[in-house]
Amino acid sequence: LQASLTIDPAFSVGEVDPRLYGSFVEHMGRCVYTGIYEPGHPSASPEGFREDVAGLARELGVPLIRYPGGNFVSGYKWEDGIGPVDDRPTRLDLAWRSLETNRVGVDEFVPWASGIGAETMMAVNLGTRGIDAARELLEYCNLPGGTYWSDLRRKNGAAEPYGIKTWCLGNEMDGPWQIGHKTAYEYGRLASETAKAMRLVDPSIELVACGSSNSSMPTFGSWEATVLGETYDQVDYVSMHAYYEQRGDDRDSFLACAVDMDRFIDAVIATADHVRAVKRRSKRVDISFDEWNVWYLKRFEGEANLAIREAPPLIEDVYSVTDAVVVGTMLNSLLRHADRVKIGCQAQLVNVIAPIMTTPGGAAWKQATYHPFALTSRYGRGTVLRVEPTSPRHETKWLGEVPVLDAVAVATPDEGVSLFAVNRSQTTPMSVDVDLRAWPGYRVASHVTIADADPDAVNTADDPERVIPRSLEVPAVDGGRVALELPALSWSLVRLE
Ligand code: AHR
Repeated sequence: LQASLTIDPAFSVGEVDPRLYGSFVEHMGRCVYTGIYEPGHPSASPEGFREDVAGLARELGVPLIRYPGGNFVSGYKWEDGIGPVDDRPTRLDLAWRSLETNRVGVDEFVPWASGIGAETMMAVNLGTRGIDAARELLEYCNLPGGTYWSDLRRKNGAAEPYGIKTWCLGNEMDGPWQIGHKTAYEYGRLASETAKAMRLVDPSIELVACGSSNSSMPTFGSWEATVLGETYDQVDYVSMHAYYEQRGDDRDSFLACAVDMDRFIDAVIATADHVRAVKRRSKRVDISFDEWNVWYLKRFEGEANLAIREAPPLIEDVYSVTDAVVVGTMLNSLLRHADRVKIGCQAQLVNVIAPIMTTPGGAAWKQATYHPFALTSRYGRGTVLRVEPTSPRHETKWLGEVPVLDAVAVATPDEGVSLFAVNRSQTTPMSVDVDLRAWPGYRVASHVTIADADPDAVNTADDPERVIPRSLEVPAVDGGRVALELPALSWSLVRLE
């Protein structure tokens, strides 16, 4: 296979907001309990958080974490999670039919997130609750003191306000599975009034309105138009969520899912801009893609009718080389839209469809998908460049003809240029002719790839380094051009300096 692309600083998409590399911690399954938090674990901090997991999360490079849900937040009473731990109630969480002990709440989570270098993006419950619970949580978190809720935070041990900047107005409120599911108009009105009250508490915050749970929702498109029609002046972002999985043996379609993600993002931008035009506003509403990942939802169907348990293992997908390549293309899709997608949260951080896995009382390790995320977060900061690829195309059952090459570049001041490239062909290596004439004197400093003779290879507790990025030999630049070799079914990071 033969492809070509051009890396030129003149073809700029926009600046990467570091929050594009966010993650998500939900009180779901073993994400919190026996994930980030496990008192009694050999690596536990005095506060009960696993230092081994914190280390891996720090290294993953997640500057923002959405919390505490997800579907969980739509039935959550945040007040249950504050005050003396032994006095906190155990509640029945209806989203996941689990026992929530409330041993971790806002006062534990926010300092933990700061400790791994992440700001918290807080979600409020607009399912079973509303304006009061939201504005009181904001007062608890962000006011310095002198009011009931801010003084209670101080009494609970946090003298300084948390200064949480970004707030989600509920979660997936278009979904019939959501506790407190609403029509677009019902949700839009509630979100707008909640936003108004929250801004009166702290005018400096940013707010995210719920978009559709996925692009297959029957209300997709009209949901965004109606919700933004009600909330446009109050919110900064509209949310997007997308999960992909391989259906049957149709791997080519799965490998092409970023094509669908690109179209989904373009559709939401068009809808937001339509509302802007109708309202004759100059302000733009941007996108918070605050849940995305590979998720084998079909496998999850077997977990329906959940027995009520505490921290049950839920949707603990084990990710393969193929999944890692797909995660790489999803990151490329976010980068390609860096001008409008400002926040991204890979769902979730630990154990629940996550790049980090743990054994209770035992090891923590990196899934295959950890690697493209960590490397893109590390090197994908700066200005995104369109690379105008010419690529062979192949037919897929789901999306028709798609390019076999998926690529985007990011120029980082003083560090060089990173090219993120995926060869979607399962069988054939690809040679990519890269035009570097706009970068005189640049050379290929490194080429690391995720590829394997076995595309289904995975990492496990016993073999945590079965799938890791490997270095390839670097070709020389000649006359401002270089030929890169991409193995079949591979994700690559090529560093140019
Ligand atoms: O991330 C798992 C679940 O997926 C979240 O709770 C929900 O928002 C989404 O449907």
